[in-house]
Amino acid sequence: MFAKLLILCLVFGASRAQSHRVCILSSSSSLCQSLDKDGSQATCSRVETRIDCALRLARGEADIGFFTEEELLLLSQQQPNDNRVIATVRDVSRLETFSFEAVAVVPNNHTGGLDGLRGGRYCHPGFDQSDLRWSPRVLKTLEEVAARTDRCPDVDTNRKTAEEIEVETLSSFFSAACRPGTWSSNSTVDADLKTRFPSLCSLCGGSSGCTGYSIDMGISVAGVNNQNRHIQALECLRVSTNDSVPTVAYAAWLHVRNYFNIRNPQDAASFSLLCPDGTLQALTPEILSNPVAPCSFVKQPWGAIVASTAAASTVLTNLQAWWPTGTDPGANSWQSVLFSGLIGGANARVVFEQAPIAPANYTAPIRSIPAIDSTASCLPAQRWCTTNLNEQTKCSWVRASAYTLGIQPAISCQQRSSVFDCLTDIKESRADFIATPSNYGYIARQHYRLSPVKLVQNTRSGASRVAAFVKETAAAQENITRFENLRGKKACFPEFGGLAYVAFVRTAQLRGVISETECDYVKAVGEFFDGACAPGALDASHTITETTFNATSLCSVCRPLIPTPDNFTCAYDYTNVYYGNNGTLACLNDPTTDIAVLSTENINVHLQALGLQANQFRALCQNNTLAATPGVFIDDNCLLAYVVDAEVLSRRGDPLNNALNVLFDSLDAYFGYNTAAANQLINLDLFSSFNGISDLLFKDSTIGLTEPTGEAPHEPARNYMELFRHLDACSRATPQVPDIANRAAFSVITMLVMSFLTRFVVY
Ligand SMILES: *[C@@H]1O[C@H](CO)[C@@H](O)[C@H](O)[C@H]1NC(C)=O
Ligand SMILES: *[C@@H]1O[C@H](CO)[C@@H](O)[C@H](O)[C@H]1NC(C)=O
Ligand SMILES: *[C@@H]1O[C@H](CO)[C@@H](O)[C@H](O)[C@H]1NC(C)=O
Ligand SMILES: *[C@@H]1O[C@H](CO)[C@@H](O)[C@H](O)[C@H]1NC(C)=O
Ligand SMILES: *[C@@H]1O[C@H](CO)[C@@H](O)[C@H](O)[C@H]1NC(C)=O
Ligand SMILES: *[C@@H]1O[C@H](CO)[C@@H](O)[C@H](O)[C@H]1NC(C)=O
Ligand SMILES: *[C@@H]1O[C@H](CO)[C@@H](O)[C@H](O)[C@H]1NC(C)=O
Ligand SMILES: *[C@@H]1O[C@H](CO)[C@@H](O)[C@H](O)[C@H]1NC(C)=O
Ligand SMILES: *[C@@H]1O[C@H](CO)[C@@H](O)[C@H](O)[C@H]1NC(C)=O
Repeated sequence: MFAKLLILCLVFGASRAQSHRVCILSSSSSLCQSLDKDGSQATCSRVETRIDCALRLARGEADIGFFTEEELLLLSQQQPNDNRVIATVRDVSRLETFSFEAVAVVPNNHTGGLDGLRGGRYCHPGFDQSDLRWSPRVLKTLEEVAARTDRCPDVDTNRKTAEEIEVETLSSFFSAACRPGTWSSNSTVDADLKTRFPSLCSLCGGSSGCTGYSIDMGISVAGVNNQNRHIQALECLRVSTNDSVPTVAYAAWLHVRNYFNIRNPQDAASFSLLCPDGTLQALTPEILSNPVAPCSFVKQPWGAIVASTAAASTVLTNLQAWWPTGTDPGANSWQSVLFSGLIGGANARVVFEQAPIAPANYTAPIRSIPAIDSTASCLPAQRWCTTNLNEQTKCSWVRASAYTLGIQPAISCQQRSSVFDCLTDIKESRADFIATPSNYGYIARQHYRLSPVKLVQNTRSGASRVAAFVKETAAAQENITRFENLRGKKACFPEFGGLAYVAFVRTAQLRGVISETECDYVKAVGEFFDGACAPGALDASHTITETTFNATSLCSVCRPLIPTPDNFTCAYDYTNVYYGNNGTLACLNDPTTDIAVLSTENINVHLQALGLQANQFRALCQNNTLAATPGVFIDDNCLLAYVVDAEVLSRRGDPLNNALNVLFDSLDAYFGYNTAAANQLINLDLFSSFNGISDLLFKDSTIGLTEPTGEAPHEPARNYMELFRHLDACSRATPQVPDIANRAAFSVITMLVMSFLTRFVVY
């Protein structure tokens, strides 16, 4: 008795003393005020995503969080023994052990196990289903084990997407199917595959367009929804079981029971479950009355409440006290706010675990996803090059998240020490792609022979803006009013071959002060100016062309941070005082210089740090007039470039570039801003901060992706492609690109293009 009291006191005392820190997504942080009321023992720990919550729990910086089903599978790979599952969150109408089970239903007389499905018919609920939150991996499990879509020894993968290879295999395995919905996140690929492989839609019914079933469902039966895709897939199975061709329906056990218990009880005796080991299980009344299937291809663990390891036991005890029935306690209490903030939904029912259990131990008996490195697939993993440890960590979570959901091809992550190391590795096939700032776009194309797979789309304020500034004194005395006046002057650039440098070359060409036929951007600029600071101009990593021009003059204005006897430097880091956008402003403040071209991002911060005044400078607009007033605030029409701030680059002409392009369509669909956090299978945001750190893999200014074409709907993306149009013409003209099949033809086209440009683009 005394001991019990003591324990009670201890528990009570402990829960009194500390307040549990609960992960609440920033998007619903308005809950945080109400969570503080009435002696609450819970406080908000605001997180960007649930993944951030998992990391915070593991560090002991938060105590409680909720995770979805797929997130638990991810945690058990990424943090198998960090944190503890303390309660599952189920649906009040379905308190069974699993969130769902995916089963295969076949006619009773089916023979030959899984391989017996070869040449048969396949009825599938569809790839656009949000009903039971099936991931692509779940949706494809039966076809993967039956048709072995993960192995394709004889398939030519050249230029193909993962989806194309998969659908090819399926269409040769099944003779007919209804596999409705989106086969590819890329609409062009999706439409192409639907046209080329019509047999996989042939059972959907005539007018469906493969977006769903349009078969005659007959009369509706109370309690069964004829519009439910699983019910439709089972009906597809029933009506197709009319001859000796094997037929299978893939559906959730929940709906199989519904179908055979309520809708078509007379047919139950004619069908069986096909088990993963190839055996059959008859659909007897006993089996059909059991919420747990006798065998299934996927069993899904429920989403769960997870606590930090240290707090797990206390949290479990307290939650049991706060939510004694596992439901929302209501009454406007903080306990109720906590329930809705953490779990939400009137139908949610919390089922407490006996004792805290590690994520891997929770999921392993239910569903285990094979180790990522030992999984067969038709396409090799695409290697993402990262430039620091934080990026590498974010990449490893993106990789594991995409893998968990079954997105193909797989990703792997490898860390290098700089963007240039990555560009080299990609060029030399030691890595496959990287998202880089558009500042490196020209060098990456020219020197490293890379090409864009996707461009980012930016927020309006996030896009890169390049402007040219002259000293207000020179502008006022009318020494410099047009680009022509810059000949023989001294110029400042943040980096050689960088965005500002290229934007200047392009503008100078369009204004007719640099020849359109000059493809050597070193010579073009070097001869135009009488000295410059273009950091990196002498470094091999920045070689943009095989020039005979001596680039030393492009560094003549640079200054080292630590003075040396000759004060010469061309370093492309901050040991060169004039490196970078802030250094370029410092450079323009040097009495010897006349013009600076730079990105205007944070320009006021830079001016302040350098002790300069905005009205010391005036913009020279791209239409060849000075801005009306001095200052650095200029409208977008005055800019030399208004372009995206980053792009995804890979080897030019790589046979897997299409697969990579479509991989990014999938990543955007699952981890971009297209889906509300509540509907994401895994709440990872590819384009926002990760673990509280900004600009990893992609800058936070990214809102999505777009195609690298001149027709892109996003203006900065179009402008960016336009910026390289001259370069494209040049590289087709010169014999530098080894992998051009018909150089002669290209050269002729180029000459035509170039003569067109020089002749008609005169302003
Ligand atoms: C789809 O993928 C192809 C490459 O397979 C690409 O060329 C195309 O631009 C992508 N995007 C869209 C929206 O179709
Ligand atoms: C059986 O059903 C399938 C699918 O509905 C159809 O293609 C096939 O022609 C039918 N076979 C017979 C013998 O009616
Ligand atoms: C299996 O049963 C169906 C329907 O009862 C029948 O049409 C079909 O011919 C049978 N198939 C085999 C292989 O016996
Ligand atoms: C997880 O399972 C392993 C093996 O059964 C066991 O040794 C370990 O203690 C378990 N850990 C937790 C935290 O449940
Ligand atoms: C502008 O030109 C005049 C006349 O050539 C010269 O005296 C003056 O120093 C120049 N001003 C600047 C800022 O270069
Ligand atoms: C380039 O010019 C600099 C200074 O004018 C000179 O020292 C250097 O030797 C030259 N380099 C080449 C490769 O000619
Ligand atoms: C080098 O730069 C420093 C500081 O800017 C200056 O004091 C020094 O005179 C310069 N040396 C030469 C040789 O120009
Ligand atoms: C520019 O910013 C960098 C990094 O913030 C700093 O190291 C460098 O000293 C700055 N350059 C100048 C000229 O102030
Ligand atoms: C040039 O562009 C600036 C900035 O948009 C604008 O104010 C000015 O009117 C333009 N001048 C001409 C001649 O078009």
